[in-house]
Formats: sequence, structure tokens, C-alpha cells
Amino acid sequence: MNNFNFQNKTAIRFGKNVIDTELHDAVAQFGQRVLLVFGGGSIKQSGLYDRVRDALADLEVVELSGIAPNPKIDSVRAGQDLVKTHDIDVVLAVGGGSVIDAAKVIASSKFYDADPWDLVVASSKRYEIAQLPVVDILTLSATGTEMNVGSVISNPETNQKLGTGGPNSPAVSFLDPTLTFSVSPWQTAAGAIDIFSHLTEQYFDQTPNDVTSGMMAGLYRAVIKNAPIALANPNDYDARAALMWASTMALNGLVDVGNTNGWTVHPIEHELSAYYDITHGVGLGIMTPRWMQRSLSAETQPRFAQFGREVWGLTGDDATVAQGAIQATFDWIKSLNVPTTLPGVGITDDTHFDAMANSAVTVGHLDQAAYVTLQPQDVVALFQAAMTDDGFVK
Ligand code: NZQ
Ligand code: ZN
Repeated sequence: MNNFNFQNKTAIRFGKNVIDTELHDAVAQFGQRVLLVFGGGSIKQSGLYDRVRDALADLEVVELSGIAPNPKIDSVRAGQDLVKTHDIDVVLAVGGGSVIDAAKVIASSKFYDADPWDLVVASSKRYEIAQLPVVDILTLSATGTEMNVGSVISNPETNQKLGTGGPNSPAVSFLDPTLTFSVSPWQTAAGAIDIFSHLTEQYFDQTPNDVTSGMMAGLYRAVIKNAPIALANPNDYDARAALMWASTMALNGLVDVGNTNGWTVHPIEHELSAYYDITHGVGLGIMTPRWMQRSLSAETQPRFAQFGREVWGLTGDDATVAQGAIQATFDWIKSLNVPTTLPGVGITDDTHFDAMANSAVTVGHLDQAAYVTLQPQDVVALFQAAMTDDGFVK
């Protein structure tokens, strides 16, 4: 196990209707002037918007709406204007990962006097400046942003989608599984696959340890079991609760301590989202089984076999279990009714394969730090493999 530091300062308020009694004080502890950040309208349809406004009735609330999936830098720029103009004290993000990610960078941008895209390109700048406290109400189980310092912001002008970290994770995150009852089947599946992928990025590691491996195996099993239940019955509280807490636990830093942490499929998917604006979790679901096939070798077979036994409950010799685990991963993703090929999300030719592969390798350091290192031509081969479902039993 490698040396590590672990600290997470996010306060979690988990459960039904906690916002009605606890939101006001959680926000007001930081001041009176609030920037309320939300997305395209789901919180108005669900009635959550009215509950939030009621809870904050005695505070000065300024709004920034319309944060899009794969949040764009223009929204962050608009937020920067508002936090500066209104001398905002605290940012309240109500929505999925895109809203919370944008809110975190807006929270830093108050203390930066130039284009906030600089803060995305160079996270180091965010550690040199202050950051407003962020409180959030999570409405979609997927990213883990509710308890980590990460944000992923897109710049459509440059076809870039980049991760950035800041000094603070959200100060307080409200996790009420009932708020996810209204999430569409598409986003429910994508969110579950995102959680699965976060585990995969951390499970397949050059220096795994038994503590984090065991925790991840439990989280994997929770996601694999509960995603189909939530799809079949969107109002199943326990299934939604399991997905929500698994989302948080999979990416709050707890399960990667002591590991090397060389992520692969995320940098590759971020290129697909950057060029084609596809749903993050769906892109991960397309690329993950191909990445597994390409990564399986004599050297990695024992880890894939452990994955097959502990996560999928498979039995047999290592070679059989390792192969079976990859097929089981493909089957589970397919069972969630999302596309399993690039043409399924509208990517029908290889126009951008070289550019995306080069950028993925550069941004993600895939030729140096990945679990199995990849060169640009290897990433192109993964994209090509994802053009059809050949290679998997259908
Ligand atoms: O915009 P609204 O109207 O709210 O609708 C959203 C959006 O259209 C909708 N939605 C959210 N909650 C809902 C709901 N619809 C009905 N009922 C609800 N309760 O769902 C759509 C997608 O929302 P989005 O926030 O984009 O989804 P998600 O949470 O999956 O976030 C994806 C973004 O997070 C990034 C991804 O790359 C992507 O940009 N990630 C962030 C990470 C982090 N900060 O740690 C890590 C992840 O790996 C990921 O890269
Ligand atoms: Zn992800």
C-alpha cells in the first residue's frame, strides 16, 4: 500500500425531506447572499425549486439557470459575473453533476479577475486563490462530485472537456434519494454506468490493496443489483438510496487511498463528450468493455479473475472467469437499455478518431500512468472496436 493522506470535509445530510428542515441553516451559516445554480428545468418540474425558494425566503437569492449537461465554460463565465456583481457569500447548486461541477468553478472564479477558463486549464491557479463555500442538493446519482473537489468543464470552441480540481469539496451536500425518482431511464442507466466506471478506474490499479478492493467489490455489487431495480421501479427508495450512496462513496477519495490511480476510460470518454456532446455514462458504457478486452493479458488476468469472482460471482479457472467477467460487464450495460456502440450515439465515422486519441493520451497521460499504458494508435483501435458489437456474445 502506498503512503497516503486522506481528508474529506464535506458534511453529508442524507435522507427523505432533510432539505425542508436543514437547508436554510446549512446555507445561511455562510452568509445572506446566495447564488442559486441549476440546470434546464427539471427542478421546476419536480417542485424542488419552490421548496428551495421557500426554505431560503429570508435570504438574498440570485439565480443562474440553464447549466447544460457537459457544462460549458460560458455558464461559468456568466456565474463569475454574478458572484462578483452581487458579492455572493455562498453558492447553492441544485441538480446533477453538471450543475455542481459548474458551481465549484464559479465559486473559485469570484477570486479571479480574468477568464475562468484559465482555472480549468490550470487547476493550480485555483489553489492559489480562495473559493466560496458550495452547498449542493444532488438530484442524480452518478458522478460523486457531491463529495469531491473535481469538476469537468467543456469549451465547445476548442473541442476540449477538461477536469479541474479546487481546494475544497462542497461544504454541505444534501442527498435525498426521493429527488432522483424523476430521473429518466436514460440518465439512471448512464449514472449507474458512471459509478461502475469510477470503480473500474480505481479497481484496476498497479498497486491495489485488500482494503480498498473489498470496499469497491461491495459498491460494485450494490450498483449492479440496484440499477435494474431503479429502472423497473423508479420510485423504489432503497434502490435509489443505494445508487446515491454508492455514487458518493465511489468517488470521494475513500476507495483509492494507497493506490497508484491511473485512469484510462474517463480521459477517452471525455474526448467523445468534447467532440460529440454525448452523455458521459453512456460513452463510458460503450468504451469500458472494449478497454477490458484490450487490457486482459497474462499479466492482468489474475486481477480480472478476482473481479469476476468478487464482483460477478463467477467460478472456474482464471482464464474462464476473466473472460466471463468482461462479457458480464457488457451484458449488464446492454441490459440497462443504452447503446453499446459508437454508431448507437451517432458517431458513425472515424473523422475525429486520431485527434481524440492524441488528446486522450496527452491529457490523461495514458502512455505513462494508465493501468495498462496506451499509445494513440491503441486508443484509435478502441474506437474502431466500438463501431460494432463484434467480439461480444449478443
Ligand atoms: O438540467 P436539468 O433540467 O436539471 O436536467 C438534467 C440533465 O438534463 C437531468 N436531471 C438531473 N436530475 C434530474 C434530472 N431529470 C429529472 N429528474 C432529476 N432529479 O439529467 C440530465 C443530466 O444531468 P447531468 O448533471 O449532466 O448528469 P450527471 O450527474 O451524470 O453529470 C455529468 C457530468 O459530470 C461530469 C461528466 O463528465 C459530465 O460533464 N463528471 C464529473 C465528475 C466529478 N466532478 O467528479 C466525475 C465524473 O467522472 C464525470 O466526468
Ligand atoms: Zn465519470
